[in-house]
Amino acid sequence: MNQDRHSFSNSIGFVLAAAGSAVGLGNIWRFPYLAAKDGGGLFLVIYLILALTFGFTLLTTEIAIGRKTRQSPLTAYGTLRKGWRKLGILACIVPMMIMPYYCVIGGWVLRYAVEFIIHGWTNAATDGFFTSFITDSTSPLIYGIIFLLVTCFIIYRGVNKGIEAFSRILMPILIVLVVGIAVFSLTLRHDDGTGVRTGLQGLKIFAIPRISGMKISDLLIVTMDAMGQLFYSLSIAMGIMIAYGSYVKDEDNLMRSINQIEIFDTAVAVLAGVMVIPAVYVFMGEEGMSASGPGLMFISIPKVFMSMGGIGRILGILFFLMVLFAALTSSISILEAIVSSFMDEFGFTRKRATIVEFFIALVFVVLVCLGYNKLYFEVNLPNGAVAQILDIMDYISNNVLMPVVSISTCVLVGWITGPEMIIDEVTKGGARFGRRSLYIVMIRYVAPVLLLILFLQSFGVFSFLK
Ligand code: ALA
Repeated sequence: MNQDRHSFSNSIGFVLAAAGSAVGLGNIWRFPYLAAKDGGGLFLVIYLILALTFGFTLLTTEIAIGRKTRQSPLTAYGTLRKGWRKLGILACIVPMMIMPYYCVIGGWVLRYAVEFIIHGWTNAATDGFFTSFITDSTSPLIYGIIFLLVTCFIIYRGVNKGIEAFSRILMPILIVLVVGIAVFSLTLRHDDGTGVRTGLQGLKIFAIPRISGMKISDLLIVTMDAMGQLFYSLSIAMGIMIAYGSYVKDEDNLMRSINQIEIFDTAVAVLAGVMVIPAVYVFMGEEGMSASGPGLMFISIPKVFMSMGGIGRILGILFFLMVLFAALTSSISILEAIVSSFMDEFGFTRKRATIVEFFIALVFVVLVCLGYNKLYFEVNLPNGAVAQILDIMDYISNNVLMPVVSISTCVLVGWITGPEMIIDEVTKGGARFGRRSLYIVMIRYVAPVLLLILFLQSFGVFSFLK
């Protein structure tokens, strides 16, 4: 084992770091939008069921593999079973693909935080602000590189002084901000001439299942959406949880930590919904909620803050700072999966591994940014979406590689090493494995089948159901 490797000082440090990884851009813009699109409460119920079964299974598996092997994602699979090294290579390519575009989006968030601090919503809420920013040839690049440099700096400082120390500071601030803005969002009311809309009405849209007129095919689509979201949100199949698991001490109660991470991530995702959906509904109506992904966060939300007047500026600053912290604690985990891999595979020091990955990521950050101007092109993806470089990298990592890594992990653990290996690791030191039978059924049968369906869906196989 490389001597530069450390361990989290205790289970709270681990839980905060892992929850920091899980809580990210996925929770704050992706979850609320999908919930609004997929029948509000129905999406929520399905998401919660999947989190307790499917999410729990994969999260447990990856963290236990990390602690058992004390290896990075690149080397862990080969250590577990000879002949499975290739799976490690795939598991390391995933964070390498995600890292650059995550930094680019992190740079967008940083830009908006700076904009709100200097000018409030005056420019940010105007039509065309977002598009003219991301199509600019230098500005997104500068912000993306700053975000990348900050991430590298934290990782360079190591597991304790870097990841753990920053998570311990940022996560409590993040929680206070999310809860505060969510509560405020529920108190909103606005009359745009068509009648008064309130935050509580918006909450109903988010929380109450709307199933009238729904077909079985719609249910399948909601389930697939919820599963894809869960995957992304819990940082599963990105190599991250293996890397973080490898820093957990043997005496720490793994089961308790896993439960806490799950609860933390799910609670923040739900709170993000409570924060975003009522606010967008009150000021923009149901139509305002139809903008998806970056559109919701970078185009609709600034308009919401504008509609609030003076207080909108303060809330805008707090909101974008909160998203920035969430993105940062996730990007450091993505980088750690790569850096720990370089350290274990090539014997690099932490400093060298960080510098090497900085330059690799830099090349792709430049490419992703150029994808909105000098290298602009449009490609139709198999699932029907029109994509630029960022979307292509997102699609290949999330829709192709991550399901392949997860399905292979299920096969390895469920059928080759046997689930007992994970159960033994988790219960080492006498801890109880709460959902034992569920875990075995999930890892052997349910998870691989559901993942295969998700994988096929990304190639449009089920598009006839729409
Ligand atoms: N889990 C991280 C997120 O939600 C990657 O953004």
